[in-house]
Amino acid sequence: MRLVLVGPPGAGKGTQAEFIAAHLAAPKISTGDLFRFNVGQGTPLGIEAKKYMDSGQLVPDEITINMVRQRLAEQDAVDGFLLDGFPRNVPQAEVLDDMLKELGVKIDVVLELVVEDDEVIRRLSGRRTCRGCGKIWHVEFDPTTVEGVCDRCDGQLFQRDDDKPETIAKRLEVYHEQTEPLVDFYSAQGKLVGIDATGPVEDVTDRAIDALGPFE
Ligand code: AP5
Ligand code: ZN
Repeated sequence: MRLVLVGPPGAGKGTQAEFIAAHLAAPKISTGDLFRFNVGQGTPLGIEAKKYMDSGQLVPDEITINMVRQRLAEQDAVDGFLLDGFPRNVPQAEVLDDMLKELGVKIDVVLELVVEDDEVIRRLSGRRTCRGCGKIWHVEFDPTTVEGVCDRCDGQLFQRDDDKPETIAKRLEVYHEQTEPLVDFYSAQGKLVGIDATGPVEDVTDRAIDALGPFE
């Protein structure tokens, strides 16, 4: 299956992507994770992307699209994938459609995680990520047994640079202006399925897998 996850920052895309990708046995391709990997490695791509990420802006389309094009060309993505965080605006979605057309395939379904802004702010303010295994935690909604230490791998937890209050506000603004139009774009293609992404993580996963059932 070729699936796109859409939703505001903090909707739980990364959290759910892990479970859904395992269910589909397809690779998860997260542009946010790819950028953060490059930032961590200090690559030229990472140095350029960080300027935009730290201010809550989108990284320019050309940079993002080239990165995704390379990733989609890798062997494990040929039969299916879950895209998390891409496309992020209508021009990116149009380029993605063209790229896939060249490969003779198309997006099967776009899953929208629906969460209100006030809940997003609570989620992002308390998010912590493991430096060791990448598992996403939350100080209140999904806490570790020992504060700051991952239950899964004993790695240290950190807070993302873009989870500061002023950057969260900017990311939400950018989402509503630039990313939300994708909901209409994919509705018009008959590919959009929306689910309520509030409540326990496991319940959201169940809803997601139920919603994807007809497309599998
Ligand atoms: P990216 O990493 O994609 O950030 P985002 O879309 O803002 O999404 P997040 O990763 O913040 O949130 P999420 O929805 O994955 O939520 P999570 O599962 O972590 O992008 C970062 C930046 O990179 C962008 O700002 C941009 O600069 C750049 N970028 C990326 N893609 C780009 C593109 N295509 N074009 C241009 N630029 C791009 O969950 C959040 C918290 O909530 C966690 O603590 C979690 O534990 C908790 N939580 C999850 N589910 C629940 C639940 N059901 N109940 C309670 N808490 C929950
Ligand atoms: Zn860990």
